[in-house]
Order: sequence, then structure tokens, then C-alpha cells
Amino acid sequence: MPIVTVTRRLRFNAAHRVHNPALSDAENARLFGKCNNPNWHGHNYTLDVSVRGPVDERTGYVIDLGVLRGIVEREVLDHTDHRNFNLDVPYMRDINPTTENIIVAMWRVLAPAIAPATLQRLRLWETENNYVDYSGE
Ligand code: NI
Repeated sequence: MPIVTVTRRLRFNAAHRVHNPALSDAENARLFGKCNNPNWHGHNYTLDVSVRGPVDERTGYVIDLGVLRGIVEREVLDHTDHRNFNLDVPYMRDINPTTENIIVAMWRVLAPAIAPATLQRLRLWETENNYVDYSGE
């Protein structure tokens, strides 16, 4: 049976401040630049959610992409869109909201929610030039 990877793209907006309290203010500013702004700032994020599996003989689908969208909205985006990662987002509590840390936290929520389908990869775009990939390792 053929194994195919399908991807649903979703978009959301959120604010954050990337800051490590163990470092000095100067070091935080040097490391994180605009993302260290004390009064937050926002990004227009894009999240690509990829699911891999056999093509169902009856439907011709790996997973219904509308169903996948619903899971991602319910489990992640409803708690994230137009929120502040540092203050509002339950799965990001006490986590410094770099794109790397956000994608790992999203994986921990989404992988069990998508099961028994297999979450293959998340790709999170913070800007149109910068994205991170995570596959659960
Ligand atoms: Ni930022």
C-alpha cells in the first residue's frame, strides 16, 4: 500500500518576548534583538502540519485534511491565535518562546491528538525567511 505524506497549512498571529532571565538585559538584547522587546511584539506565523500514512482504499485519503485542520485548531490554535505566548498560551508556560521551543511544545500537544495517524513533521514559519522543522526526536 502506498505511503503518502499530506500537509495542511494554517496561519495565526501571536505576540511574544524572547528573554532568558538567567542572562543580563544587555546579553538578552544582543542575543534576541527585536524579539527581546520588553513590551512584546507580534509575528504572523505559518504552521505546516504533515501527516504520513497509507492511502485509505475507501476514501483515497491519508487523513481528511478538514479533520486535521479541526484538530490543530482545537488543540493548538484556539489557545494561540491573537494571544501572547509568554502570558496566555497554556502549553508554553515557563518556556522561552523561540520558534524552536514553540514547535517542540506544539508537537507534544499535537502528536497524541492526531494519533492513530502519524504526525510526520511540523514546520513553523516565524517570518517568510525563517522557519524551523521538527519531527519529534
Ligand atoms: Ni519575535
